Amino acid sequence: MLVRQVGRWSHFYSYHFNLIPKYPVKSILKNYTTIANDELPYTKIHTPVMLSEVLTHLAPEPGKIYCDLTFGDGGYTKAILDSCDCKVVAVDQDPTAYEKALQLAATPDYKGRLFPLLSKFGQIDSAVKKNFDWSFPCFDGMVMDIGVSSGQIETASRGFSYKLDGPLDMRMCSRGKDAPSSSSEEFTFEDEARLMRKSISAYELVNFYSREQIADIIYKYGGDRLSRKIAAAIVDARQKAPIETTGELAAIVQKTCPQPRWQRGDDDMLRNSAARTFQALRIYINDELAELESALRSSEYLLRPQGRLVVVSFHSLEDRIAKNFLYHCAGKRSTQEAETNQFSLKRAANREFRKATRNNYDADVLLKQPSGQVLHKHSVVPSFELKSKSVVQASKEETAVNSRSRSAKLRVGQRTMAEPLSPFGPLDL
Ligand SMILES: C[S@@+](CC[C@H](N)C(=O)[O-])C[C@H]1O[C@@H](n2cnc3c(N)ncnc32)[C@H](O)[C@@H]1O
Repeated sequence: MLVRQVGRWSHFYSYHFNLIPKYPVKSILKNYTTIANDELPYTKIHTPVMLSEVLTHLAPEPGKIYCDLTFGDGGYTKAILDSCDCKVVAVDQDPTAYEKALQLAATPDYKGRLFPLLSKFGQIDSAVKKNFDWSFPCFDGMVMDIGVSSGQIETASRGFSYKLDGPLDMRMCSRGKDAPSSSSEEFTFEDEARLMRKSISAYELVNFYSREQIADIIYKYGGDRLSRKIAAAIVDARQKAPIETTGELAAIVQKTCPQPRWQRGDDDMLRNSAARTFQALRIYINDELAELESALRSSEYLLRPQGRLVVVSFHSLEDRIAKNFLYHCAGKRSTQEAETNQFSLKRAANREFRKATRNNYDADVLLKQPSGQVLHKHSVVPSFELKSKSVVQASKEETAVNSRSRSAKLRVGQRTMAEPLSPFGPLDL
């Protein structure tokens, strides 16, 4: 308790009496990187999260075709291919992950069974159409493990980490420092050039977006109450000189919102504004939420009846999207309703039910489609069946050895025979 109070006051003094060193940023950065490098929590190769749960729920079978929408270091893909004589289409937008997948696909064990695709998973439908002569539905299972891999975070030149100094990039489709400029012809793959042409880097965002835009991004995707203050500090700093590196950006955020000593713990997202700011910029730059929605929408069209969809997410916004999608498709709740408060919804539903029984008419729950079409519950045939009672989380044993798994949430649905309900609209191929 005493430590807590002392910590609080030291924060107060440093904050109000400017005891924190002023610019230049480089001097803060020097101190900052020295501390941070000692505390690196990452392992070198990505450890697949909830691998046994993913395999149990995906339940691969011989002769079937699965899609791993987030190949990464290939943890899930290898496990699926090793579990039985099946095939896997492995998607990643990261050219280095794609190269790894190509190497793996050439090994005797996986030859003719692994098909890598360099694409955003939000465009999985057109990528499959372009590369395979298959008609939809074509997959017996789809799995996604959303977010960045440890390899991406740990490579300073990719510019994802606030703990490592590197160029401000954060694009999953980029090779970081070694990336050719988007106008040049030096790309290894045609699809790499296409992905890069459509992308913006963290450098562009931080140095050219307005203060309001930056603040909104930090608030929306990082949930930081101090988003306006952080955005103002970024705009102030860039007026003196462009913000070039992750270290500079981290130092600016940490100077604006210093983390008191008593608050230091092992959950960065709870306590560290720099962690939240970096996460927010990454989500925006890679358009992660829209990508997820688009991939979920495609899964309705790509999965064969009985095919499983397994989604592992690490951010509450992503989990909410996956949950809303599956709940809607399972006929439990419409996506529009899901966006409003659940408790008031429940009260409203109860009210409607009481009114209906009083007036002696059928208490149908209305399911509104985004198209405006209104369906009665009995006329909706669910396109997915929920396969887990609630969200599945990592076991105590796993969280003890892999801290990343602590925030993981797994949701699973099984495709039915019904037509797609297309809660996010039809496919536009
Ligand atoms: C958490 S890692 C996956 C790790 C993988 N399950 C494993 O066991 O190695 C996420 C991967 O998904 C990729 N990714 C994220 N968003 C993507 C998107 N919209 N399209 C394609 N790939 C994406 C990232 O590049 C990264 O390699």
